[in-house]
Amino acid sequence: MKLRIILPGLLILLAGCSSVQRDTPLQVWDDMKHQQKFKAQAPVVGIFADGRSNRMPPEDTVARDKFRDDSALNTGLENGMYVGKNPVPITLALLQQGQTKFNIYCSPCHDQTGMGRGIVPARVPIWQPSNLTDDRVVEFADGDIFDVITNGRRTMPSYRFQVVTADRWAIIAYVRALQRAAHSKPDEAPPGTTIAALK
Ligand code: HEC
Repeated sequence: MKLRIILPGLLILLAGCSSVQRDTPLQVWDDMKHQQKFKAQAPVVGIFADGRSNRMPPEDTVARDKFRDDSALNTGLENGMYVGKNPVPITLALLQQGQTKFNIYCSPCHDQTGMGRGIVPARVPIWQPSNLTDDRVVEFADGDIFDVITNGRRTMPSYRFQVVTADRWAIIAYVRALQRAAHSKPDEAPPGTTIAALK
């Protein structure tokens, strides 16, 4: 009984919910529904002589999000080749920065001397890092090491997100110091240095 009364009432109510409006609505206040606008490709009369609604950006303008810094500092490359030398001037502060970052990000695998006996390969013997003091790596261009840190190589993962560009160059400078130390002779050490044997 009750349904016969409620149902038509409901239908009338729901009919008002259609989102399709076929007649132009009566607009009492325009608010911001009607505004002047120009379509991107349509010619506009009366603004600029060439009929465009806006101006071309000045020549060689690059949008912020389209900017790609392709300097050697940012890519490790120069004319498509690995840069031979670190583009950052080598200072004691740079080496210290490199030491800190190397010990954080590289030593778990490569160990603090760079020889590749870190805690990771100790636990996962099938995952062996390169010995960074090997002649083979000594002969790497600095830009090549930059590429290894940035993009990873073979089984080494990329560290581009953990290690910012400036730290990568600091690490590279420090890796060179480790290599220099590994290949030096005892009589090159400053007088009074005690030499501890590596196990
Ligand atoms: C998770 C372990 C791990 C970490 C951390 C790591 N490496 Fe490696 N790295 C490796 C492994 C494994 C290899 C050997 C890759 C191969 O030959 O498959 C390697 C190789 C290299 C090589 C030599 C590539 C070659 O051709 O032999 C360089 C240079 C290097 N790593 C530098 C770094 C530097 C610098 C850092 C710190 C930013 C770092 N690695 C951090 C695991 C690691």
